[in-house]
Amino acid sequence: MSVHTAKRRLAPTDITALKGERPIVSLTAYTTPIAKLLDPHVDFMLVGDSLGMVLYGLDSTVGVTIEMMIAHGQAVMRGSSHACVVVDLPFGSYQESRELAFRSAARVLKETGCSAIKLEGGAEMAETVHFLTQRGIPVLGHVGLMPQLINTTGGYRSLGRSDKEADKIRRDAVALDEAGAFAIVIEGTVEPLAKEITGTIKTPTIGIGASPACDGQVLVIDDVLGIFTDFKPRFVKRFANLAPEISEAVATYAEEVKARSFPGPEHTFQPHKG
Ligand code: KIV
Repeated sequence: MSVHTAKRRLAPTDITALKGERPIVSLTAYTTPIAKLLDPHVDFMLVGDSLGMVLYGLDSTVGVTIEMMIAHGQAVMRGSSHACVVVDLPFGSYQESRELAFRSAARVLKETGCSAIKLEGGAEMAETVHFLTQRGIPVLGHVGLMPQLINTTGGYRSLGRSDKEADKIRRDAVALDEAGAFAIVIEGTVEPLAKEITGTIKTPTIGIGASPACDGQVLVIDDVLGIFTDFKPRFVKRFANLAPEISEAVATYAEEVKARSFPGPEHTFQPHKG
């Protein structure tokens, strides 16, 4: 009898189990080469609909389609074997009904092989989250600042300073916790509220602009690497500054092509002698 020793990919239940054990590490990933680089270091990779802005130059995430999410979800799955992979459901693919949400989520799971989906929304999405989790689809929730709602909320700003905002975010997080989300992203939310929610609910909180009090952190990879430079929210820390390096490399390439110093003899094929 052979003993199966291969390390298995982390599952959503493994992410949930990390609450209270150690901080959960997450980054977004959209492509195979970046997924390969992140895989040994993160607990889960999020194929976020932020790809609409980061990769496609869209003004918001609203224009992202399910086909885009599936193509990038497949690319990230091909580049990873350890981290749990979560794919965002894009705007319009789940809000209408829990049945539509199930069809969209099932398609994403089947066509990418990922382990879970993320959707934005709190109390208003709790019934849908319950419906999905009861039917085999693990859900990462997302409360606080919700970029897919940009057209009704009117902007990207941190939330939770007024009692009304704080009450809503608190109720949203509790509703998703009770609905069975395996973890909940809290975005753009003041520290005391993020801390209170993290201490109250049983599911882990994953902060982005929501303080170190959360059970884990997620950032957009292009922000972390200093590749996306259109704007830099306060909560972003650039752990590298690759944009000037890329620019310099490309400028040198252009110079060498124009000067015919690239390609050199070592990059050039010659007929075999003899
Ligand atoms: O779309 C995304 O990348 C996200 C994270 C930033 C949380 O939702």
